[in-house]
Formats: sequence, C-alpha cells, structure tokens
Amino acid sequence: MNEPIINEREREHAAQLVKDGVPIPEWWFRKSALLSFLFNASSATVPEGERFIVRAVDEARARIEEPTLLKAAETLMHEELAHARMHDAYNRYLEEIGFPAHRYNAETESLLRFFEHVFSLKGRLATCAMIEHFTAIFSKQVLDTGILEGEDVDERMDRVWSWHCLEELEHRSTAIDMYRRMGGGYLARISVALITSFFFAISHTRCLLAFLREKKLLWKWHTWRAGWPYIFGKRGVYRLFLTHWVLYFKPGFHPREVVIENRFHKQLHHYHIEEELVNYFPKVR
Ligand SMILES: [Fe+2]
Ligand SMILES: [Fe+2]
Repeated sequence: MNEPIINEREREHAAQLVKDGVPIPEWWFRKSALLSFLFNASSATVPEGERFIVRAVDEARARIEEPTLLKAAETLMHEELAHARMHDAYNRYLEEIGFPAHRYNAETESLLRFFEHVFSLKGRLATCAMIEHFTAIFSKQVLDTGILEGEDVDERMDRVWSWHCLEELEHRSTAIDMYRRMGGGYLARISVALITSFFFAISHTRCLLAFLREKKLLWKWHTWRAGWPYIFGKRGVYRLFLTHWVLYFKPGFHPREVVIENRFHKQLHHYHIEEELVNYFPKVR
C-alpha cells in the first residue's frame, strides 16, 4: 500500500532537517517544556518495558498452538525490538543533552527484573497486557487528537512517535489474547494491572519531574501554565488517558472495544523505518 502523501512530505521534511544539521529543539513540542519532557520521560521508561514484553511473549510462544496468535506474537516481538532500538538512540541523545534518561531506564529495568523474579509466566503476560493497554490508550490520544501535527512540532519527533503509536495500536490485543489462551483469569489480571499501573505511574512521574528539575523548570510557573491544557485540559492526554485506563478493569474487556479515530489517517507502519528514525538522533559528542 502506498503511503498517503502527507506522510511522504513529512519524511522528506525530516530528512532535510537531518541533512541541514538542524538540532532537535529541547522544547520540541509547541514550545512546551512540559509536553516535550513528558514524551521524553516516556522514551526513558519504555524500552525496558518493551524488552520485558519480548522475553515474556517469546517464552509463552512455546505453550501456544494457534497459528494466528503465534504470528501476532512474532509481529509484536519484531515491533517492540525495533521500538526499543530506536528509543535507545533517543535516550542516548537525551542523556547527551543533559537529561538523566539512563538513570530512569535502569530503574525501570530493575523493577521489571524484580517482576520477572516474582511473577509466573502468566503473571508476566498479565503485566505485558497492562503495559500494552497503557501504550495503546496513550497512542489513541496522540493519534485521535492529532497533537503531533502542525508546524510547531519537530517533524522528526512527529515521525518517531506516530510510528511507535501506530504499531502499538496494531498489536494492542496480542498480549491479552495470549494471557487468556494460557488460561489467565480476571482477578489475577486486574491485580497485576493495579500493581503495574502503580509502579509505572510513579516511575514515569518521577522521571518527568527529574527532567524538569534538571533543566531548572520544575518550579517555573510558565512551565505548568503553558503545558497544563495539553495534559489535563478537555482534550488533554492524561485526562483522556484516565477515562480509557478504567475500561481495562471491566470483566471480559478486550482492547478492540476501544475505537480509534486516527484523525490524520497516519500510516507509517510496516515500512521498517527504524533505521531512518535512529538517524534523527545524532551523537552530540
Ligand atoms: Fe513499543
Ligand atoms: Fe507494545
């Protein structure tokens, strides 16, 4: 399938920025430090979650026979490994420009290694299902509201996040389907979901606050005033996020129930563009 022209134009624009050596602005989202740093904090905490998912899904594949689900598992693993690779480059770049990304990446890794130590395979799949629900509803908000579109958002970051969000939406059902196929039940699913949500909310918020503190923006009124509507406003990312997070606790919930609007009909997936995206993050030193 051909890419819609809007995406090809974006690809060319992003490539031109790289060619001209234009640095990614520190406040790359609509001159808002809060929103730019919120996305950056997601990048710092996400690749270890993706590697955790790949390890759990890989192990669970041996216990599943259904060909369509096995194929979906393979796609999920392939996509998560590509995301993690891109986010490693993104995080290295963050570290080089003064964000303590590695510290929070390492913290997430320790937390997930602990989960691996205490949870059974089914418990780990339930954790994966919750993480996938997080990423899916975050992606839904990003694509439905079209917040990454417009001239005041760096084109490279638009492509990075649009690509990741589209693939998250595409594979959003795989982990929960595998969990159920292995006999996973409701109570275990929601118990793990509560634990996972609690730890992830804490680590993500701590990372965001640390980034703001590091750049001496945490206690600046304009930081919060300019970014607040994008987070808690009527179409704010967190506000919409919370309304969909609770759906997960419904018995029998399935991610396909969540309707995706994808306002700008973005289609960047299945083009194996991670190599291009990794190159958006040059080595500073
Ligand atoms: Fe991902
Ligand atoms: Fe995912």
